[in-house]
Amino acid sequence: MSIVLFGGEKGGTGKTTLATNIAAMLAQKGRDVLLLDTDRQGSASAWATVREEDGIEPRVACLQKFGKGLAGQVRDLAGRYDDIVIDAGGRDSMELRYALGVADRAFIPVQPFQFDIWTIRQMDSLVEMAQGYNADLEAFVILNRISPNPAIREGQEALDFLAQEQFEHLALAESMVHDRIAFRKAARGGMSVIEWGDDLKAVQEMTALLGEIFR
Ligand SMILES: Nc1ncnc2c1ncn2[C@@H]1O[C@H](COP(=O)(O)OP(=O)(O)OP(=O)(O)O)[C@@H](O)[C@H]1O
Ligand SMILES: [Mg+2]
Repeated sequence: MSIVLFGGEKGGTGKTTLATNIAAMLAQKGRDVLLLDTDRQGSASAWATVREEDGIEPRVACLQKFGKGLAGQVRDLAGRYDDIVIDAGGRDSMELRYALGVADRAFIPVQPFQFDIWTIRQMDSLVEMAQGYNADLEAFVILNRISPNPAIREGQEALDFLAQEQFEHLALAESMVHDRIAFRKAARGGMSVIEWGDDLKAVQEMTALLGEIFR
């Protein structure tokens, strides 16, 4: 049983994209997985609805939960599923804080082109606070939407910066995800990039991330 969180304070970094892909991949492996949408925007739920309506197998169970009771609800749900993948909204929301309190591993996507050191510092503090009552929590920054154009060095610059800064409570994920159209196309069809199948590099990146999460 594991609880994996994709969260962070910044909007539009890829939390829902990574959460939905990982949930679908776990389901494909035969795991009984719950995708837990704690963002009132409901993007993960919308993805699950498209998946359901299009009859894509395996099914991915998805629930929306908000507010105060979230931590207790996740603990209750934990007994009923093999894995829970949480998508927590792009603000310092109550949901993000509660989710950090119950997750085993948190992944915070960061886009090199909207690299924002202030929000990463904030996340470092939030994780420190959460570790006060969830000692097992491990948190990682994961670079997402790195330009596939090698002439654009933002990805490397972001990595160098993160290595220098050495956040106390955040590690850098080994996996990295590039900006690939397959992620948008797969999402529109309620699929993972593995199911979409047209982009081998996207498949390799997500396979590596799944391996890292469940190492
Ligand atoms: N690796 C990627 N390659 C291409 N497009 C991506 C990638 N990751 C995310 N996107 C696109 O970027 C946009 C924002 O992604 P997503 O909705 O996953 O972010 P989010 O962090 O969940 O946003 P919010 O804070 O609004 O919940 C979407 O259009 C998504 O398809
Ligand atoms: Mg989202």
